[in-house]
Amino acid sequence: MTIKKVAVIGSGTMGRGIAYSVAISGLSVVLQDINESSLEKAKAYHEKEFERAVAKEILTREEADSSLGSIEYTTELNAAVNDRDLVIEAVLEIMELKTSIFKQLDEMTPDHTILATNTSTMSPTEIAAQTSRPEKCIALHFFNPVPRMKLIEVICGLETSDDTIQKAIAFGESIGKECVKINEFPGFAVSRMNCLIGNEAMNMVMEGVASPEDIDKAMKLGLNHPMGPLELADLVGLDTRLRNMQYLYETLGEKYRPCPILTKYVKAGHLGKKSGKGFYTYS
Ligand SMILES: NC(=O)c1ccc[n+]([C@@H]2O[C@H](COP(=O)([O-])OP(=O)(O)OC[C@H]3O[C@@H](n4cnc5c(N)ncnc54)[C@H](O)[C@@H]3O)[C@@H](O)[C@H]2O)c1
Repeated sequence: MTIKKVAVIGSGTMGRGIAYSVAISGLSVVLQDINESSLEKAKAYHEKEFERAVAKEILTREEADSSLGSIEYTTELNAAVNDRDLVIEAVLEIMELKTSIFKQLDEMTPDHTILATNTSTMSPTEIAAQTSRPEKCIALHFFNPVPRMKLIEVICGLETSDDTIQKAIAFGESIGKECVKINEFPGFAVSRMNCLIGNEAMNMVMEGVASPEDIDKAMKLGLNHPMGPLELADLVGLDTRLRNMQYLYETLGEKYRPCPILTKYVKAGHLGKKSGKGFYTYS
């Protein structure tokens, strides 16, 4: 079986990007969220991304209109997933939320459906244990912004079958991504390193070592990073980053203790780009 029909659960920063990448590759995609306004924002984002694809001559106008028109948006979980080959969950980084969704997906989807989580840090084994099909559960960790980032970390849980891994990698390649296979460990490969760099940059802001602008500039010009760690944290969302740090702190220990400034910003509602204010201010 090749994966042709996909559902994405959660239409926030990641879900909308994943849905776009699936649609532009000609696969069928349904995007589901409990929040109507998040779906509306996702639709506006898709319109803008398809315009951009036409402007860059990646797609013709007809192709863009047809891909955009093929994306379905819904708040109904059952309707979104009941005929899908692959479901990718991209809701908040909260274990109880992910496990409750996986339990429902297990009941609502056909037996052959692969259930994937886009978690940045958490255990796909623990999430899969809530289902009757742990061999068909996997983590597919996409990167932000999804349309422009090539990588998917494919993380195998304890019982993920070779067949599921192969199908997941084939799916990733079919939407133009490159996959790396990772054995489960908190934070996988990228988040584990990236969260630490970001947290250190936040500690340096708190200690008055340099301004956010100069810390980011130093990493870009000194180490050739395409983005500074504070710009990146703002793009990820400081609430999401805080949840990632909290999980890594619980599972990997002291060196992942979230920087107090991160906690303070999240409490103030300064969530980065999505709220208009984080380490930087956005119009
Ligand atoms: N932001 C990033 O850069 C990034 C990168 C890689 C992975 N991730 C991971 O992707 C996941 C999503 O992160 P995000 O940044 O897109 O979050 P987000 O806050 O931007 O979006 C989450 C979405 O989930 C929806 N949601 C909440 N409960 C739901 C439910 N029960 N059913 C359906 N939808 C529900 C919300 O309405 C919201 O639209 C997290 O696990 C995160 O760790 C994030």
